[in-house]
Amino acid sequence: MEQLSRRTFLKRSLIGLATLIPLTAGYSYGVEPRWIEVVERKIFLSKLPKTFEGIQIVVFGDLHVGFHMNERDVLHTVDKIKQLKPEILLFTGDFVDGKQDVIPPVLPYLQELDASYGKFAVLGNHDYYGDLVAPSLKDAGFTVLRNSHHTIKKKNDSLVIAGVEDLLMGNADLNQALEGAPDTCTLLLSHCPDFADEISQDQVDLQISGHSHGGQIRFPIVGAVITPPGAKKYIDDFYTLEKTNVYVNRGLGTTILPFRFLCRPQISVLRLYRK
Ligand SMILES: [Fe+2]
Repeated sequence: MEQLSRRTFLKRSLIGLATLIPLTAGYSYGVEPRWIEVVERKIFLSKLPKTFEGIQIVVFGDLHVGFHMNERDVLHTVDKIKQLKPEILLFTGDFVDGKQDVIPPVLPYLQELDASYGKFAVLGNHDYYGDLVAPSLKDAGFTVLRNSHHTIKKKNDSLVIAGVEDLLMGNADLNQALEGAPDTCTLLLSHCPDFADEISQDQVDLQISGHSHGGQIRFPIVGAVITPPGAKKYIDDFYTLEKTNVYVNRGLGTTILPFRFLCRPQISVLRLYRK
């Protein structure tokens, strides 16, 4: 067998690397950012009323429309969500990336989304660069929760969906959001997942967030290399904390760099059960 000389080995490795880098870049730019993964998760909550046992919640967010997310991508996302037939639909913020003139062409798609118990949204940090996002989401049929809550009633039971302003760009106030809320199972929408550390005992049963993008670019073993402020501790999937639980959705769009690697865009289907 031919002995591989040091020089040949180096040469072949460099050729391999030179082929791999553009292939990886092409995949991360052209394939993975549009390859939506639907992730299903069962979540067990002790305060969930019996009537809501098995309720299905579809979570999506971080569209960042205007940055590598065009009208066709939004339509594709909306089609995927429609197929899931949400009972409750939650949007975790960052509708746009910056400019808000991209909203009108995609708004009719969001209007088409339907959910039996309602559609709810919070604003993300990127939604504060103008004042069109909240009224547009409202036009699309979403209840926009800005330090406020909504109570869903089913027979004699109720479930609270609360939402806070963004931790980085707004004035997130959980006490204000929960003012007058009935003492029952409470879900909280907060764009930034690290807000969970501000929650006191018995306030919130499950916080649902986005913002981290799961890191957007991840490496085997190492995982996410960089996440933004507000998503340093809770980055992806489910966490049980001492005072609450957190679920983080990886989002659908990208920001800063139009790449996703080992971190597919995601729509989450959460099913709630009694613990
Ligand atoms: Fe964000």
